[in-house]
Parts: sequence; C-alpha cells; structure tokens
Amino acid sequence: MANAWFETVAEAQRRAKKRLPKSVYGALIAGSEKGLSTADNLASFDQLGFAPHVAGLSNERTMNTTIMGQEIGMPIIISPTGVQAVHPQGEVAIARAAQNRGIPMGLSSFASKSVEDVAAVNDKTFFQMYWCGDKDTLVQRMNRAREAGAKGLIVTLDWSFSNGRDWGSPWIPEKIDLKAAIKLAPEVLQKPGWLLAFAKTGRIPDLTAPNMAKPGEKAPTFFGAYYEWMQTPLPTWEDISWLREQWGGPFMVKGVSRVDDAKRVVDLGATALSVSNHGGNNLDGTPAPIRALPAVADAVGSQIEVVLDGGVRRGSDVVKALALGARAVMIGRAYLWGLAANGQAGVENVLDVMRGGIDSALLGIGKSSIHDLDRDDVVAPDGFFRSLGTK
Ligand SMILES: Cc1cc2nc3c(=O)[nH]c(=O)nc-3n(C[C@H](O)[C@H](O)[C@H](O)COP(=O)(O)O)c2cc1C
Repeated sequence: MANAWFETVAEAQRRAKKRLPKSVYGALIAGSEKGLSTADNLASFDQLGFAPHVAGLSNERTMNTTIMGQEIGMPIIISPTGVQAVHPQGEVAIARAAQNRGIPMGLSSFASKSVEDVAAVNDKTFFQMYWCGDKDTLVQRMNRAREAGAKGLIVTLDWSFSNGRDWGSPWIPEKIDLKAAIKLAPEVLQKPGWLLAFAKTGRIPDLTAPNMAKPGEKAPTFFGAYYEWMQTPLPTWEDISWLREQWGGPFMVKGVSRVDDAKRVVDLGATALSVSNHGGNNLDGTPAPIRALPAVADAVGSQIEVVLDGGVRRGSDVVKALALGARAVMIGRAYLWGLAANGQAGVENVLDVMRGGIDSALLGIGKSSIHDLDRDDVVAPDGFFRSLGTK
C-alpha cells in the first residue's frame, strides 16, 4: 500500500470498509433496533466543546495513570470485542499493539484467540466474561484466564439479547463449510486484500470461541457459545458478588448506566466499573455513556475507578470523558477499524492518533496532565446530561 499510515480513525474506518467483506464490516458496525444508542454515542461527543486557553500553556504534558492496579502509558484500555474474521492475527495483533503502547488488552471470552496466546503478548490483559454457563464452568474459565496471566476480570452485564436491526443484520454462518463458502463467495471475492491475508496463513476464519471451550473439548462455535449464554439463568447481584470473590483480584463491572446500579457495584467490592451501553449494541434508547458519566462519577468516583466506553473516536473525546469524571476510557470500534485497515500496525496507528489527540487537547486547554482536567474544561449544552437511577 502506498501510504499505510492514516491520520484519523475516520480514515481507518473508510479503509476498513474498503477492505472487509460486507458481512464482516456490518458485524463491526453492529448497533441494535433503530440504532438510536449507537448514533447518540457519537453525536453526544460532538455536542461537547472545549474552553481553550491561548498563552501560558504547558510545554510538557503527561498522560500516565493507573487502572485496575496496572501502570498505563495513556488513559485507554482495549475494550473486549469478538473480532472473528477481521484479521488472521485477530486479538493477538491487537494485544501486541496495546503492549507496544503500554495499555491493557481487554479480551472477550467470545474472542477468536485464546487467552493463553493473548496474555503471552500483553502483560496487562484483562479477561472479559459474561454470566454464561453454570458456576463450575464460570470458575473453570476464570481460573484458566488467571493461569494464563490475566491481571483483571471484566464482567459485562448489559446484554438483553435484542435482535433485529432496521438496516438489516449481516448473515454470519455457524461455521465456514462449503455451503457457507459458496454463499459468501460473491462478497469475499470482491475483497482480495482481505482474502489474501487469510490465504497466506493457510486457514479460513473458523468462527469459534476458544475461551469458551470446556476442559478437554474443542472450542464451540461462536453461535454455540451464544446459545449456552442464552440458556443461562440471569445473574443476581449476589451472583456477581460471588464471582468477584472467586476471582479475588482486580474486577470491573462493564455496562453500568444508572447511579443506583453503580452503588451496588461499589457494594459488591469491585475495583472499577465502566459506564457503557455496549457501544449501542444492547438496549436501544439507552443514552450515550458520556451523558450519564458525571452523575455516576459524582456518586461513586471516590470509591471505585470509573471508566467510560462508547463513541470514543479521537483523543479529544478521551479528554472530554476524563474532564467529566472518567479515570480512563475503553475503545472498541476505533481499534477494530485500525486492525481491519492494517493489522497490528493499524491498531498502533489508532493508538498513536489517540495519543496525539489527547496531547493536543491538553495543550489547547492549558493543562499539563490528564490529572488536572476538570469539568470547566468542557462546554456542554443545556439538558445534555442524564442522571439515571437517582430517585
Ligand atoms: C463488534 C463488537 C463486538 C463486541 N463484543 C463484545 C464482547 O464480546 N464483550 C463485551 O463486553 N463487549 C463487546 N462489545 C462492546 C465493546 O466492548 C465496547 O463496549 C463498545 O464497542 C464501545 O463502543 P465503541 O465501539 O463506540 O468504542 C463489542 C462491540 C462491538 C462493536
């Protein structure tokens, strides 16, 4: 490629769209129902502005911090996603990129690579689990992650099995057999770069979830694992508390929007929570997390590490979230676009774009450290914020 480097995440997304088969690209766009939450995640950041200074600015700016007991080079965490079929190196490439930029790797239990392979290349790996399967299975999965070297556990609670999108969902086969290959051939053959990357490895995307394998059994298909999850009775707060005790180390609850839920997460002894609506892929109509963040941070920010994910596409978005009370953010689609565009180097490119954007925003508002950010740095229109669960 003439110039593989891209200067913004928007350009990475354009390249991802060009390179990926339509169904794979559509799976990353994701969203649910009418797409209200996915749209609001992006629109809400656009509605926030900055209050800049122009002289007396700081020549040096720092963005190191800590999260879940890990020293990190900038306030960003890789949010867990199942990235089946985006790139042959999948989560291993993402984890290497994150390691090279000094940030943690959140690995989905629905990922295409094993926790052993991922934790081997990123020493700040956080393993993500859903409440899926019986208690023995949950313990077995988390023990496996611990033995592999995972440093933290992320438990994602926001999922309501919504189905159907007004713009249509991509067709994803249970596995790539001859019938599926024939059906997908027309769209795949239009994407020779993507096809070649897999062809070089001699393997086609197998669409399995190796971290969901039962001991001694082979990895279930993605849909097999999803079916197990759908069959599992939903957890109570006591169940989540039990899970935290079983893990015993740094523990994040992901998917909180409401202040009352945030307080329960504090009560169960979690280390961190992520204000998140699952990237808008869950209950459509849930407000953008950046709107709900200040109320949650005010209520529990002194007792627990508050993280935000959803809609972060540039360094200035990170600065907005930190100014409004987050300690760090997690990113999802941004690094997926980078991975699709240019593999590990593409993810590093995205992280470098983010770092540059954080630095530039700090400079513009006259702050020498992310730890000096406060709400006055950000301008929000009237009625922007949402206080959920405060009555
Ligand atoms: C394709 C895709 C797959 C995802 N898979 C998971 C998952 O397996 N576990 C999880 O906790 N969150 C999952 N998420 C949600 C992300 O971790 C994160 O909350 C979301 O992507 C943040 O929004 P953003 O994409 O706007 O950055 C997924 C998101 C996408 C787009």
